[in-house]
Amino acid sequence: MFAIIGGSGLSKLSSLDEERREVVRTPYGEPSGPLLFGQVGGKQVVFLARHGYGHSIPPHAVNYRANIWALKQAGAEGIVSVASVGGIRADLGPGMLAVPSQVLDYTWGRKATYFDGSDSKVVHIDFTEPYDAALRTRILRAAQAAGQPVLDGGVYATTQGPRLESAAEINRLERDGADMVGMTGMPEAALARELDIPYAAIAVVANHAAGRASSAGGIAMSDIEATLQEAMVRVRLVLEQLCAL
Ligand code: HPA
Repeated sequence: MFAIIGGSGLSKLSSLDEERREVVRTPYGEPSGPLLFGQVGGKQVVFLARHGYGHSIPPHAVNYRANIWALKQAGAEGIVSVASVGGIRADLGPGMLAVPSQVLDYTWGRKATYFDGSDSKVVHIDFTEPYDAALRTRILRAAQAAGQPVLDGGVYATTQGPRLESAAEINRLERDGADMVGMTGMPEAALARELDIPYAAIAVVANHAAGRASSAGGIAMSDIEATLQEAMVRVRLVLEQLCAL
C-alpha cells in the first residue's frame, strides 16, 4: 500500500474514496492528523495532510517523526510526498512539476532522527541517493501515462521557513547547486530512510523563488494559492495513474 503525504494545496485527495480514518499515537507524539484510508483508482492508499487538515501546522512545527512512524505502522510500503516549492532554475516556473533526485538541508531545530541516542543505538543511514530510485521511476511513468510533463531530477533545498527566502539566500542556494526550494523535504526523506520505507517526492512549483521573477517586486501569496490550486489538479491525475500502474 502506498502512502501519500499531501502538502500545501493538497490537504484533501478528492480522488480518494475514503473508507476509514485512524487516529494514531506514536512514541514521538501526534501525527499531523488522522490517517485517511481508502482507494484511489481501485488501489488501497493511506493519505496524510502534512500541515493538518485545516492547514494549521507550519513546516518547522510538523511532527515529521510521528508522521513517518504512523505511516510505517499503517503498513505503507512506499511514501509519495507532494510538496510545493519555489523554482530557482529558470525552467522551473510556476505550475511546473518535478521529481527531485537530491536534497540539501538548511533546516535547524527539527527532530530529524529516530536514532537520537536515547536508546543508545548509533545508526548512520546511507543517504547518497535520498530518494528511492524505483519509486521515482514509477512516478515518472505515471506522469507520462497521465500526459503530464514533469522534470526528471533536480536538487531540492530545504529551508527552515516559515518565511520565504531573501534574494541573496536564493543566490546562495543556487551556488550550492539547488534547483528548487521548499520547507518540508527534510527531515521527512531521511526519516523514511531510517525506517526503510521507499520515499520519493513530486515537487510542485508554486512561484519563482525570491528575486527570480522577471517582473520586479515580491511574491504574492494569492498567486501561489492560485497556481497550486491549478497544479494540484494535474498532481491528482499523476497520483491516480501511479496507483493504477
Ligand atoms: N521558498 C520556500 N518554500 C516554498 C517556496 C519558496 O519560494 N514556494 C513554495 N514553498
